[in-house]
Amino acid sequence: MTLPSIDKETYSSFTLHSAVVMVKGKNGNGIERKRTTSDARDGVEYNRKVRKLQDEAAEIEKKAEEDETKKIEEKKDGEEDFADEFIPDPDCNPDIPRQVTFSDISAAAFNIKKGISKTPCTKSLQLSNKYGVELYFKKEYMQVTGSFKERGARFALSRLTAEEKKNGVIAASAGNHALALCYHGNLMGVAVTVVMPVFAPLMKITMCRSYGATVLLKGNNIGKAKDYAMHISREKKLKYINGYDAPDILAGQGTIGLEILEQVSDADAVLVPVGGGGMIAGVAVALKTLKPGILVYGIEAETCPSFTRAYEAGHVITEMAGSTLADGLAVPTVGCNSLATARGLIDKMITVCEESIALSILRLLELEKAVVEGAGGVCLAAILSDKVPELRGKKVVAILSGGNIDTTVLGRAIERGLAVDGRLIRIEVVVSDRPGGIAELSTRIAQAGGSIKDIFHERAWISTDVFSVRVKVVAETRDKEHVLELEKTLKERYTDVRIS
Ligand SMILES: Cc1ncc(COP(=O)(O)O)c(C=O)c1O
Repeated sequence: MTLPSIDKETYSSFTLHSAVVMVKGKNGNGIERKRTTSDARDGVEYNRKVRKLQDEAAEIEKKAEEDETKKIEEKKDGEEDFADEFIPDPDCNPDIPRQVTFSDISAAAFNIKKGISKTPCTKSLQLSNKYGVELYFKKEYMQVTGSFKERGARFALSRLTAEEKKNGVIAASAGNHALALCYHGNLMGVAVTVVMPVFAPLMKITMCRSYGATVLLKGNNIGKAKDYAMHISREKKLKYINGYDAPDILAGQGTIGLEILEQVSDADAVLVPVGGGGMIAGVAVALKTLKPGILVYGIEAETCPSFTRAYEAGHVITEMAGSTLADGLAVPTVGCNSLATARGLIDKMITVCEESIALSILRLLELEKAVVEGAGGVCLAAILSDKVPELRGKKVVAILSGGNIDTTVLGRAIERGLAVDGRLIRIEVVVSDRPGGIAELSTRIAQAGGSIKDIFHERAWISTDVFSVRVKVVAETRDKEHVLELEKTLKERYTDVRIS
């Protein structure tokens, strides 16, 4: 924005507020003198000029904002143009779905050995005892970019022809696939372009750029971003790599299954988070080929059960994706190759609620010292919400697929988890408004072992009794039993008690 031109000297005189006036000496130094009536008149004049300049500046700013809005509108119109023409991805054709085989996965394992970490798969003593299953975690959040997506990305990049490698690749993703592709593209000398929706997290944009990738922001959802990416792919001859359905991606993700059986050869069941279906497809082929009796369960967020529906229907269908802590799993239309590859290999599909995902993130943080994102926490969520009672006493491997969670989301998930666990409660009590009424309530909460985090009170909305006050308290408690005890204690003393 350009401000109206104004010289420095005039501007500093406009900012004069004190009763002392500075006048310029011959040598340019300021000399102090008392303020006079004519100074006061000058002051009025100065103020008038300042107001005029401020009005002009506001006008210019408004115009700049209008121009910016116009530009955005024009850009949106442009998006509609490219969205009109649908360009299919030749690697993912629902009419001719491709099934990935065990030999594809073996080739991937051999190929990516050098570039990918073999993550630990270790038993969790505390969580095993707590939930009655012998629980192992495959710790994919420990990959360099924080997720299993590196496996597929690395393999897909290694399979490019010389010409494809020279031209570079493109993908639409605002998440882990983008990070993985940019990181390995950088290591392998392949130029990577990622298209992200305009509201993609700044952190992810910055990380991808730090790996030397080109990041384009287009469309207000991932579908629009993908349409745009397909156009660029055709125009600039960049190979499009679908993060959950390109056959090489499925084969790469399948290597997790091989490692699991190497690390826990006598596992009874493996729980796999499911978004577009790439991971479960590859992992199921690997596991069922090597150990047909092993159980493979897919876990989805309740707000987007797209794979569950497609698996039941036997073909890809589009589900509405609701908002979820497990944003990596919110894929409305699952992959056709993934679905075809996984057909007949999944023993059960399970959906989990938001509360259980939050509690799972909290448990993993506290008991495993593991920071996982929502998608990475869904397998434990299935166990702690008792969705798999048949696995009690069995040896179960849960894939902790990723750890890229925003700090603010992590903070909210922890609070939500504490609330679900009965360790953070909201109490509303109507108490006497006489001196000592609120103090008494605080004392009673303290004596019952609750710790007050927040307290406030309101009078205006209590209709019955002007000598009462509604007090709202957020308090820390030990567990659900403790909450019941506290509630009982308060109800013995007060008639209006609500706990949530
Ligand atoms: C951390 C994490 N877990 C699980 C998934 C689901 O993987 P898929 O789309 O292959 O089913 C994703 C997808 O982005 C993810 O980022």
